[in-house]
Amino acid sequence: MPAEEEDCGNFEERVRKLVEAGYEAIGSEIIACTRCQLHKSAIKRVIGKGSCNPRVLFIGEAPGKNENETGIPFCGRAGKKLDKMIEYMGLTEKDWTVVNTVKCRPPENRNPKASEIDCCKPFLVAQITLLDPKIIILLGNTAEKSYCPEKKLEWGVPVEHEGRTILKLYHPAALIYTASKTETQWAFIDKNRNLWE
Ligand code: URA
Repeated sequence: MPAEEEDCGNFEERVRKLVEAGYEAIGSEIIACTRCQLHKSAIKRVIGKGSCNPRVLFIGEAPGKNENETGIPFCGRAGKKLDKMIEYMGLTEKDWTVVNTVKCRPPENRNPKASEIDCCKPFLVAQITLLDPKIIILLGNTAEKSYCPEKKLEWGVPVEHEGRTILKLYHPAALIYTASKTETQWAFIDKNRNLWE
């Protein structure tokens, strides 16, 4: 492939094969993936963490520095905020899983490009299909752009999408940068507790 192009292949075909192969195999495929440029600078691929049978699936954006070094999503400062959110939601370990829109860290922490998000999307969709969560929580706008770009979601307002409930909340990093968002986030959570309780 030319230096800056992705080799995304056929979306439906990739998803079908990944779903057929099973969750463990998706991890191996992610580790072996060279379809976009992000793999070149990645140290570790970041597959996901949490329950294999979650009621709630969180979708983050992209691995950061700590995640790139450890292969574990949300293991740095944003991860501490996500832990607080999960605690506030009253979820226990068996209830949730977290994955990202792209599985390799974008260099210099830049936002993932639309083409990189598209190229990685079969992994995300196959993960969702196999994990089969009742609720998907999109952590920020990048998760929305990846998972349901055709929707214009409002923060904290749930919608039904392909048989699941989708809720867009602030990305945990936004709570670090804008402290006043924490209270709003807690209010979004309080308003929607019925979805997961
Ligand atoms: N931010 C994300 O969106 N994902 C991570 O895994 C870490 C930080």
